[in-house]
Amino acid sequence: MQHQRVLVLDFGGQYNQLIARRVRDLKVYCDLKPCDMTMDEIRAYDPIGIIFTGGPSSVYDAQAPHIPQEVFSLGIPVLGICYGCQLIAYELGGRVEHAATSEYGKRTFSFIADSPLSEGVPKTSICWMSHTDHVTAVPEGFSVLAATETCPVTVFGSEERKIYGIQFHPEVVHSEYGNKMLENFLYRVCGAAGDWTMQGYVKEQVARIREKVGDKKVLCAMSGGVDSAVAATLIHRAVGDQLTCVFVDHGLHRKNEPEEVMSVFRDGLGMNLIKADAADLFLDKLAGVTDPERKRKIIGAEFINVFEKEAKKIGAVDFLVQGTIYPDVIESGKGKSAVIKSHHNVGGLPDVVDFKEIIEPLRDLFKDEVRRVGTELGLPDSVVWRQPCPGPALAIRIMGEVTREKLATLREADFIFRDEIAKAGLDRQIWQYFAVITNSKTVGVQGDFRTYENVIALRAVTSVDAMTADWARIPFEVLETISNRITNEVPHANRVVYDITSKPPATIEWE
Ligand code: XMP
Repeated sequence: MQHQRVLVLDFGGQYNQLIARRVRDLKVYCDLKPCDMTMDEIRAYDPIGIIFTGGPSSVYDAQAPHIPQEVFSLGIPVLGICYGCQLIAYELGGRVEHAATSEYGKRTFSFIADSPLSEGVPKTSICWMSHTDHVTAVPEGFSVLAATETCPVTVFGSEERKIYGIQFHPEVVHSEYGNKMLENFLYRVCGAAGDWTMQGYVKEQVARIREKVGDKKVLCAMSGGVDSAVAATLIHRAVGDQLTCVFVDHGLHRKNEPEEVMSVFRDGLGMNLIKADAADLFLDKLAGVTDPERKRKIIGAEFINVFEKEAKKIGAVDFLVQGTIYPDVIESGKGKSAVIKSHHNVGGLPDVVDFKEIIEPLRDLFKDEVRRVGTELGLPDSVVWRQPCPGPALAIRIMGEVTREKLATLREADFIFRDEIAKAGLDRQIWQYFAVITNSKTVGVQGDFRTYENVIALRAVTSVDAMTADWARIPFEVLETISNRITNEVPHANRVVYDITSKPPATIEWE
């Protein structure tokens, strides 16, 4: 079934994926595509509406991205946001000027005239601005619909032409009624039917996977992470025992993780799940190794070796599952950035598995949609809301050499941290939180005795995409409980410190 689709044209702004996610949340399928899409491609995409995102340029820059005039005469509704709003005004003969001062942050704006966009929105509310240029005169046939004290054209549009511009960012939560205005655009201007739901997605994918796989065999590397778990469960729902999953237990997982993977997927769902017990192998290879990059490379290479051995036992398969999600698809179209850390993902697997085709059942989904699909499939919250965990897992949260003793200490400290964050109800607000065992020992006094033990560091960050992050403002009382519990309950730990560094300049992980 072909869903109604909205085309989000990416002009390079920082909130672009967020716009696409909001549209999807409003039950309308959309894709984020580069702004240099040709008119033929746009027509072939057949959208019910087009959204121009924000971007860093000024319409007067020599290199500024533009859009063919023709896009405005297709009869397809258009909404421009920030740069997109200025672009509409500029292309259709309005005026765009540099404002005397940049506007950044919360502003109060008021509607001057009614329009489909303002339905159900109070006359005056708060919006989130981030711009230097702004529209000072609207094109002929268009009306000014809203303004702030300093931004004369905050919203403008033409009901007849179904073209609108919004200078602020309706997609960010600080714009009180931004979501409502996006909803109005989709439902009152584009005539959306709201046919994009995760329930529907599961049904369609199951049918599609069944048809594609037929009676053939599928192999999946299960890491326990959200993406591989949901991908495997979806495929299992479609083809049952034709799917084999391999879980590599490298001995570096967090407390209870391997047990949980086996109990949810093998015992609970009845999946054909093989656990490769390779803890000794990994720990032997890591003995004496202290350099973070070497640790990562050893683990990456060993993971592939172990997986290959298991895959050989299974023999040739027809399909290999990959948990690629939509942001990976968007990102892979962009330029390469500097390698900060060697990432160890299942990306290296295709070379060692005898298979015919890759199957990527989550390719169209944002992370929040993957979670909703997981819940739809009946997976427990502990799997669906699992925080991101790097492939090398605890090995890169142990500074210096990885030993069994340090692993045991870290596992307990990390478990207490997670437990208390969940008890404080902060587990879905903080993007990622974990303990690190530093390579410092300090003097302590525990039970009247002098101790000389490890320093445990707590790392907790808020983030949208892990590209940038800020340290989480965990209440002192919660930190106090965590510190007390770690120093009382965990062997070989006598001090707890909290990491208050953002990314950049630090990274989220310590190694
Ligand atoms: P950094 O430490 O670079 O981490 O700020 C950004 C995000 O990526 C995760 N991370 C990894 N994920 N394989 C992964 O799949 C890896 O090797 C890896 N290293 C870091 C990290 O946990 C954070 O969410």
